[in-house]
Amino acid sequence: MMIRLLYASHAAQPLTPALMQGILASSRKNNIERGITGILCHSGDYFLQVLEGGRGPVNALYNVIAQDSRHDQVTILHYEEVTERRFAGWTMGQVNLGKVNQSLVLKYSERAVIDPFSVSGRVSMALLDELIATASIGCKS
Ligand SMILES: Cc1cc2nc3c(=O)[nH]c(=O)nc-3n(C[C@H](O)[C@H](O)[C@H](O)COP(=O)(O)O)c2cc1C
Repeated sequence: MMIRLLYASHAAQPLTPALMQGILASSRKNNIERGITGILCHSGDYFLQVLEGGRGPVNALYNVIAQDSRHDQVTILHYEEVTERRFAGWTMGQVNLGKVNQSLVLKYSERAVIDPFSVSGRVSMALLDELIATASIGCKS
């Protein structure tokens, strides 16, 4: 039984390339073993991550991630049972939302900067779907 979980969080420290690389290295190493796929978006000082896979492994990983001191205010935006994956191609894809075409962000947001804490989980999921459709997701693996 598979689920899809979407959460947002605030970065506890500046989002440097080294910080992102560290998170992505852990993700790609661990997620493949656990059958977890997804996307990690970041922009300014927040993260937006979707995780999908078996209910047990995704819930367990979420609990680990939520305790990670590199971010805080970890907030679940969306949680659903699914019959198929949407992000099957990514052990953990990466998107810098600050570099995404602004018209794409404006489609879903009042301003050209999307704030996942102020829009619905449905809107954030729609934005992620659009990132797939427009091939905006880096590091396919
Ligand atoms: C925003 C964010 C997203 C993360 N995503 C994942 C992930 O998808 N998979 C993962 O294993 N660890 C992820 N982590 C790291 C975990 O919190 C934890 O540090 C890691 O799983 C520990 O495993 P390791 O000792 O093998 O590095 C994330 C951390 C942060 C701050």
